[in-house]
Amino acid sequence: MNRFSEPPDPDFDAINRSLDVDVRLWPFDIAQSRAHVAMLAAQKIISAEDAGVIIDALASVEGELQAGLFPFEPTDEDIHMAIERRVSEIAGEAGGRIHTARSRNDQVATDLVLFTREAAADTIAAIEGLIGKLIDSAEAHLDWPLPGYTHLQRAQPVYLSHHLLAYVWMLQRDRQRFQFVASQCELLPLGAGALAGVNFDTDRGRVADQLGFDGVSPNSLDAVSNRDFILDYLSAAAICATHLSRLGGELVLWSSQEFGFVQLPDRWTSGSSLMPQKKNPDAAELLRAKAPRVVGDLSSFLGVLHSLPLAYNKDMQEDKEYLFDGVDTLSLALAAASGMIEGASFNQERMAKAAGDGMIAATDLADLLVRRGVPFRQSHATVGKIVRETLAADRQLSSLSLDELQAYDAELDAEAISLLAQDGWLESKTSEGGTALGRVREQMVLARGLLS
Ligand code: ARG
Repeated sequence: MNRFSEPPDPDFDAINRSLDVDVRLWPFDIAQSRAHVAMLAAQKIISAEDAGVIIDALASVEGELQAGLFPFEPTDEDIHMAIERRVSEIAGEAGGRIHTARSRNDQVATDLVLFTREAAADTIAAIEGLIGKLIDSAEAHLDWPLPGYTHLQRAQPVYLSHHLLAYVWMLQRDRQRFQFVASQCELLPLGAGALAGVNFDTDRGRVADQLGFDGVSPNSLDAVSNRDFILDYLSAAAICATHLSRLGGELVLWSSQEFGFVQLPDRWTSGSSLMPQKKNPDAAELLRAKAPRVVGDLSSFLGVLHSLPLAYNKDMQEDKEYLFDGVDTLSLALAAASGMIEGASFNQERMAKAAGDGMIAATDLADLLVRRGVPFRQSHATVGKIVRETLAADRQLSSLSLDELQAYDAELDAEAISLLAQDGWLESKTSEGGTALGRVREQMVLARGLLS
C-alpha cells in the first residue's frame, strides 16, 4: 500500500476527514473540473477522447450528487477525493487523468473562492432586500413621532421614518463591504499546483475565462495559501450581524409591554409553553445573540491563520467550518430581520404619547435662550433647574405659566410657552440630515436612489 506500512488509525481518520463539512462545495468542484479538463485537452496535455470520457463522467457524478444518490465511501476524505474516485470508477482509466497538473491545494482554494464569490452575491441581494423593506416602512410611517433616545433616556423626538432610515445607511455600508469581498474573489488560484506551479504547458487564462474570473493569481505560493477573501467575508459578516443585533435589540425593547411601540408579526414570534398571554420576540432576541457567533467565526479563523508558514497547511482545512457558519448564520439573520420589518405593526399612539412627554422639549427651551443671547452653558443650567423643580413638583414643562418661566429667566417669553405647548420640536430640526419632514423626504430620495 504505497508509502505507508499500516492503515490510518480510526481517530486519525476522524480528525483528518473534512467530507461532512466540505460536501457542499461539490457544485464548484464539478465546475472547476470541467474547465480544467477542457483546458488540458485544448493544450494537448490529455487526449480529446479522454477529456470527453471524463466530462461525461462528471455529468453523471453531478446528477448523482444533485439527486442525493452519490455513493459515498467511508474512505472518502473530502469532497475532492470523493468526486475523483467516482469519476475514475465511471470513466475507467481516463478518470485517472482528471487530476493532471492539479493539486488539491489549488483545487480547494479555487472551490472556496468560487463559493465565497457566490455567497457574497447572495448576501448583497439579501441586504438589498432588507434595505428595500426598511425604506418601504419608512415611507409608510413618514410623520409618526417617537422619542429618540440616548442612554436609553428619552432625548429628543424623531420621526419613525428617520429612525428606520438610520438602519438603511448602516446596511448600505455593509453592502459596500460585501462588494469589496466580491472584488477579492476575482483571481483564479487554479494552476498553482501544490505550491510552485506545474510542469505542464497549461493555459490558466482559459480556465479563468470559463469560470468567470477576471484573471489568474500571479504567485503560486500566494494562490494556495491565500484565504483573505474568507477573512474579508467574515469581517463584513461580523459587522453586518452586529448591526442586525442592534435592530434586534430595539425590536425586543419596542415590542415589550413597557414600550408597546411595535407588534411583531405572529409568524416571527412564539408563545410561552406556560403563560398563555405571552408573545415572545424570539427571532429579534436571536438577532442579538447570533452576532457574537459570527464575530467568533472571524476571530477563530484569524487564530487558525496566525503564524502559519507558507504555503498550504492542513490547519487551513478548518476554514470551511467558519466560513460556512458565518454565511449561514448571516443569511438567516438577514431573512429574520426582513421578515420582522415587513410584518411589524407600529403603535402610533404609544409612540406619540412617549414623544409628547413635555420634558423632551427641554433642549428646545435651552436653544431659545441661546437665540436670545444667553450663553449655551448658562441656558443649559437654567433649563436643567427648571426640569428638576418641575419633576419634583410632579408636573410637565407644558404646565408652567409665563410668570413661572420668567422667574427663571426673563428672556423666557410667550414663544417659550408656545414652544412647550405645541409639537413643533421635530419640525424645528431643519438642518441637513435632521428629522424635520422636509429633510426626511430628501433623505428618502437618497435612500431610494441606493437601489435604483
Ligand atoms: N480537505 C483539504 C482542505 O480542505 C483539501 C486540501 C488537502 N491538501 C493537502 N495537501 N492535504 O484543506
